[in-house]
Amino acid sequence: MIDLRSDTVTLPTPEMREAIASAEVGDDVYGEDPTVNLLEEESARLLGKDAALFIPSGTMGNLAAVLTHCERGSEIILGDKSHIFLNEAGGAAALGGIQPHIIPNQKDGTLRLEDIREAIRFDDIHHPRTRLITLENTHNMCGGAALSAVYTRSVGEIAQEQGLKFHLDGARIFNAASALGVDPADLVQPLDSVMFCLSKGLGAPVGSMLCGDAEFIHRARRTRKMLGGAMRQAGLIAAAGLYALRHHLPLLTEDHRRARDLARGLADLSGISLLDLEPPSNMVYLKLDPDLPYDAAVIKEKLKGHGILIGYENLRLIRLVTHLWIRDQDIPVVIQGFKEVLS
Ligand SMILES: Cc1ncc(COP(=O)(O)O)c(C=O)c1O
Repeated sequence: MIDLRSDTVTLPTPEMREAIASAEVGDDVYGEDPTVNLLEEESARLLGKDAALFIPSGTMGNLAAVLTHCERGSEIILGDKSHIFLNEAGGAAALGGIQPHIIPNQKDGTLRLEDIREAIRFDDIHHPRTRLITLENTHNMCGGAALSAVYTRSVGEIAQEQGLKFHLDGARIFNAASALGVDPADLVQPLDSVMFCLSKGLGAPVGSMLCGDAEFIHRARRTRKMLGGAMRQAGLIAAAGLYALRHHLPLLTEDHRRARDLARGLADLSGISLLDLEPPSNMVYLKLDPDLPYDAAVIKEKLKGHGILIGYENLRLIRLVTHLWIRDQDIPVVIQGFKEVLS
């Protein structure tokens, strides 16, 4: 099957499996797993931060960051299309008593600076206290948009002026850096904390990293323990993450090129239109025309018969994601599949 549902579906490569099999391990809760320690050091260095923490998932990484930055009854500012708000089971509210303050994501994934300023609470006993601003880069629900370093710096300036913390859901931060042609450390420089995923485009089977200054990571280590995310001989999975960081980063540009090739091939088909004619990273979003007689669920079932798996955000919006296991020769097969299904 050509699986375009997500970049989370990647399987470990044979070389990655070898790295897993030969990993040196120890008890990471005692700080004794050399492979985890190395992964944390390399991750921090890549993002220009003091320290990093290996976390089982992106959801737990974002939650650990929010719980470490904020107290009960406080408020976080985030986008209405953000993964933290939409797809993390309301963890910050349920487990941390932290209130989301939602402002609209623009088409390019940004939050308007004036909306952020307006959302910040002034000191009044009636109000929750604003503690944190979060962004997402690349922005999943905004077509995989990459937020620039200049924009991120302007949000960072507001956070700093107002004494707020600043967190990035950077599940795909290396896709953003690759799309913009910049050093990932420059992109995340203004942030107090950054979560990125090893298990998406980078192709590792498990794991995310939370990066920040040493004091923040020290406190986040306790939060991770509280959430049940402290692992023992985790070097087995950290080895896959290390392998991914060392070998798969340059491949992201290929995923982006394939997404553009796919978009180009689908652009002329009737019944659908592209959210973005030039997808910014590894996601192609397709809107179904209002008069198309079948919905995304039907198209998904029909494409299965052509050996193609797709995902959809709602019944009129399809998402196709390129990743490590999508090859050049798959692109014309997918275009042909859509052609037949839509005709
Ligand atoms: C933007 C974004 N943030 C966070 C996550 C959560 O990662 P995980 O599935 O590892 O919990 C995802 C997962 O798809 C994501 O797309």
